[in-house]
Amino acid sequence: MTSSHEPIEVTVEKIAFGGQGIARKDGLVYFIPFSAPGDRLMVRVTDEKKNFRTAEIQEILSPGPERVTPPCPVYGRCGGCNLQHISYEEQLRQKQNLVLEQLKKNLTTDTEILPIVPSPTPFHYRNRIQLKFDGQRLGFYERKSHTIIDLEDCLICDDRLTAQFSDLKKSLSEKKQPAPKVELFLNTENQVESSLSDSGPTEGLGFSQVNQAQNINLTSTLKQWISEDPSEKIYDFYAGAGNFTFPLLDQFRRSTVHSVELSEKSVKDAKRRILEMNLSPKRVQFFCSDVGAFLKRVILQDDSIAILDPPRVGCADQVIHSLAPQNLKKIYYISCNPSTLARDLTLLKNWKIGRLQAFDMFPQTDHIEVLAELVIDSR
Ligand SMILES: C[S@@+](CC[C@H](N)C(=O)[O-])C[C@H]1O[C@@H](n2cnc3c(N)ncnc32)[C@H](O)[C@@H]1O
Repeated sequence: MTSSHEPIEVTVEKIAFGGQGIARKDGLVYFIPFSAPGDRLMVRVTDEKKNFRTAEIQEILSPGPERVTPPCPVYGRCGGCNLQHISYEEQLRQKQNLVLEQLKKNLTTDTEILPIVPSPTPFHYRNRIQLKFDGQRLGFYERKSHTIIDLEDCLICDDRLTAQFSDLKKSLSEKKQPAPKVELFLNTENQVESSLSDSGPTEGLGFSQVNQAQNINLTSTLKQWISEDPSEKIYDFYAGAGNFTFPLLDQFRRSTVHSVELSEKSVKDAKRRILEMNLSPKRVQFFCSDVGAFLKRVILQDDSIAILDPPRVGCADQVIHSLAPQNLKKIYYISCNPSTLARDLTLLKNWKIGRLQAFDMFPQTDHIEVLAELVIDSR
């Protein structure tokens, strides 16, 4: 048995949920940040738990076949990306495997598993970022710290946002006002919007998908799957400002969409758009409500379709318990966290996954987006 202080040699098998590499030695599992599959490494243990160890790389004895030189000069220091040292093709393979591993208990022999959809651009894809400003430095936090890395560029951000960094820093410094949170957003007219806040939680610019080109792929797949068996009534739960609601209204002219969203700002934006588009309340209604509270007071129409796109924590138990027995045609669950998706699907007892596809919405990071088509389980 090796002492925790001695460096040990390991070979990395694969990437685990969360982005760290996994290696096994003498019956123990090692999680190693910034390692790549196939890496032969000398590592030093940094944390010991009963069943696993966390370790850091001391030396790369031989790199795995898909290890690449990360292009960003602050990679590893910055708290943003954690997969830049792995080729993009390998990131996709690892993410596909991770989704299947996380959902293994929820898959049946009938589940159609489609290949992960690559991001149209693996860099420069983010159209929304939150920066920090401490009076001098503007950028992201360093990994595991509250020190800000002063940034001139960020390789995963859209160039039109990074082009604002130096002017923004100048104007924030001149104002001499604290603004620890600075949000930049590229709107649908390709104009940069910003929101500053000095403390506490803020709705900022509201939720929007960060990778617009990939969001278009996700939305078209959702529309395609629904079009194979449409319904006159669609519920868009956790609707944001209508990212799915409006494309669905456009495609399914005979359907009514009822959308439910908690954020007042997003609901206000959606209602403004409904007015601008002159859409009748017979076609669309937006409700500013918690989804669980909505489901307590509303009985869903038989044979309707429900879309769920909750935050990373997944759906509240109450949401799952009230949806499970309803007479719905299909449920489309869009998840940015396969582990809470797996938990929610286990609770949705009489439903099973008909089709599954992952979308790489967040290249260079361990985050994964998944679309699951759920059908009544008649076994
Ligand atoms: C992952 S986002 C999806 C938004 C939208 N579907 C989109 O694609 O832009 C999750 C949304 O759920 C909203 N939300 C969070 N908790 C909620 C709740 N309990 N009830 C209703 N909406 C909630 C958030 O405000 C956020 O807009």
